Amino acid sequence: MKEMIKKQKELFYQKLREVNDINSLEALRLDFLSKKGQISALMKELSKIPNEKKKEYGQMINSFKQELSDQFEGRKEEILNLQEKLMIENTESYDESLPTKNPCGSYHPITLVQRELEDIFESMGFDVEDYNEIVDDYHCFEALNIPRFHPARDMQDTYYLTTPNQLLKSHTSAAQNAILRKYGPALKESGRPIRAVFPGRCFRNEAIDASHENTFFQMEGIMVDKDISISNLIFFMKTMLSEVFGREVTVRLRPGFFPFVEPGFELDIKCLICGGEGCSSCKNSGWLELCPCGMIHPNVLKHGGINSEEDPFEYTGFAFGLGLTRLAMMKYGVRDIRAFNSGDLGTLSQFVSR
Ligand code: PHE
Repeated sequence: MKEMIKKQKELFYQKLREVNDINSLEALRLDFLSKKGQISALMKELSKIPNEKKKEYGQMINSFKQELSDQFEGRKEEILNLQEKLMIENTESYDESLPTKNPCGSYHPITLVQRELEDIFESMGFDVEDYNEIVDDYHCFEALNIPRFHPARDMQDTYYLTTPNQLLKSHTSAAQNAILRKYGPALKESGRPIRAVFPGRCFRNEAIDASHENTFFQMEGIMVDKDISISNLIFFMKTMLSEVFGREVTVRLRPGFFPFVEPGFELDIKCLICGGEGCSSCKNSGWLELCPCGMIHPNVLKHGGINSEEDPFEYTGFAFGLGLTRLAMMKYGVRDIRAFNSGDLGTLSQFVSR
């Protein structure tokens, strides 16, 4: 029995030295390790051996089997490395003096839409503000009238950092409190209305498909002053959307629930493709859902230090949350949201500002 194992070992090492590619390595592996292979044959021989020797030889065969498996793995890696090296050597070398297709670079479509909106809002007297991507629970939820353990928290799941109380902001509304605190004093002292838009990257714990992303952009806007009403909201939204799409748009409001606005709405625009008749873009409804909005909830204004206890309705305001990514999809006819974060220059470099 010992002799047989020794012979098989010699045979194996001799054949292994001759193997130079993955296919012949696999053939050799089957020859030794498959059900009908040499190792199984040795195992069969074991039955003919006296019982007291079985254990010793059984162990010898098993360690031979283990040795073979290790050798196969090692050789496999060697062959793959060699193949890769050959592939690299045979590839034509990279010539950095050749002209590229895209010599100047280009702006990302979301940047283009964002800048266009910033210009439009600036022309209407809005300040453009920036805000963090990492925020705390208070700014993302509590200051927005979404208390801890309230079921409204289920509307937005995001990513939490290992640092306590730090998370990736799930909506640009997370900046509302900071903006109210920044511009509140000027409103109260000199009557300068708060008018601000704040674009930003947002994150949600979402399964990704053609219309859902875990990373996307919004642009939030707020206006706060005395006597601000829903008509001001409708006026600003209509003006802005007509500018973005380069033609008059018709809007409508439907009730919508967000804890930080009261009343809250979904703002739809009449489908620009079919003019309201119904087509595949608007799922035959004639309308496209574009922008949640509403009158800022008194609790949010209170958290922002705007109204006093004595007069909780002295100042009122509206807020809207435009989906920038969504708008870019509509404006440029991008059907798959995943294109934006793909890094695929072929797709992303074809957009130009109008
Ligand atoms: N922050 C909300 C969201 O992302 C949108 C929103 C903003 C709704 C402002 C109302 C007012 O879902």
